[in-house]
Amino acid sequence: MNVQDISSNFSFDRDYFSISGLNVKPIIEKLGTPLFIYDAETIKERYEYLRANLPLEVDIFYAMKANPSLAVIKQLVNLGAGVEVASEGELYACKKVGVNPKDIVFAGPSKTFEDITMAVEMGIYALNAESVGEIKRIDEIAASHDTVMDIELRINPEFEVAGAAVNMGGGSKKFGIDSEVLSAAIEQVSSLNNVRLQGIHIFAGTGIQNSEGFLSNLENCFTLAEEMNRKHFKVLSIDFGGGIGIPYSDEDSGLSIGGISDKISDMIKKYPFIRENGTRLIAEPGRYLVGQSGIYITKVIDKKHSRGKEYLLVDGGAQHLLRPALIGQSQPTFNLSREQGNLQPFDVGGSLCTSIDFLGKDLNLSEDSAVGDFIGVFCSGAYGYTESMPLFLSHDIAPEVLVHNGKYDVIRPRMDIRKIVDEMVIPGELS
Ligand SMILES: Cc1ncc(COP(=O)(O)O)c(C=O)c1O
Repeated sequence: MNVQDISSNFSFDRDYFSISGLNVKPIIEKLGTPLFIYDAETIKERYEYLRANLPLEVDIFYAMKANPSLAVIKQLVNLGAGVEVASEGELYACKKVGVNPKDIVFAGPSKTFEDITMAVEMGIYALNAESVGEIKRIDEIAASHDTVMDIELRINPEFEVAGAAVNMGGGSKKFGIDSEVLSAAIEQVSSLNNVRLQGIHIFAGTGIQNSEGFLSNLENCFTLAEEMNRKHFKVLSIDFGGGIGIPYSDEDSGLSIGGISDKISDMIKKYPFIRENGTRLIAEPGRYLVGQSGIYITKVIDKKHSRGKEYLLVDGGAQHLLRPALIGQSQPTFNLSREQGNLQPFDVGGSLCTSIDFLGKDLNLSEDSAVGDFIGVFCSGAYGYTESMPLFLSHDIAPEVLVHNGKYDVIRPRMDIRKIVDEMVIPGELS
């Protein structure tokens, strides 16, 4: 894979790497490493391509857990996206960005009193309820606010998604209500006055790599929704999840979205209740919209050889970018300081005292790679900053930078660990 396969805005010109013509070297030198850089243009292109390849009936809600930077959310909202959130903190971020509450859904197990209260007070489009107990809690909170809260029932379906990297549905899961007990569950909440069952939510898998898997998941969702509509309540929304995969290596195809629109339109026609009810269709992708926009950049601190292997040891690592270790899959990685030239395999590891702390193993990098070089781990725009363990070993937390319109801005400053240390307390008797 070369950088142009990741984004057409990325290029190498001899010994420097640029994003939409902007040389990143001065940015790195000014801000220091490690850092994340995101390209606004890549996000825009991803969004617009997806928008062009989904029928207009489908609304795109950005799953902000993939990258919760306010600037990233704002850009996607400006382009027309709604937002899928999973916590009170994410709702707060939406408020700051100015997202229309009617374009927010909130999914996620173990929602707290505070989570639900904020959603009710903001009047978001729907809370995606994960259990009967949760529906009862939502009802109580909505009653105390003298309002009725709209709910999408999150269903744990019997089906799994073909070609998904991780299945979130099927089998025994902490997410949603098992499909076979749905009727009983609906019966249990039918007398509640402060909730309205208005839709269903199924998020069955992430990292889906083939359009057949995506489409058959969609068809399964529509079939279940049709059954709900026939037997239980007027289905006004179907939230069919995110999960669109991107390629992380030459072996991954990524989900080809081109040409999928007609197939989805044909499918919608097979389910007349969608048109009759004016059912809102919601896709909630995260990774697809932002994954390829981001690069995690770290500096080589040491280079060594151990029993037949070459190592580059860097100033970043799993504290900022856990995904390669968590999933066991390397991401496209390049030495940004060298002409690509002859390559040789390196394991790239960080300073954490755990053997999982690798940004990648057997990565083909310039054979001249040396101390002081900058290494870029690509496809780090989704589940990078947020899915990691930033406090392990008390390093600073990396800043985030957005390249846009030929310039750049720091969109989240480096977090100085000393500020966090300074807030800790030693009880008086220990002093
Ligand atoms: C409820 C829900 N929706 C959407 C997403 C986004 O998934 P992806 O980034 O694979 O599109 C997730 C990811 O975990 C999720 O839990």
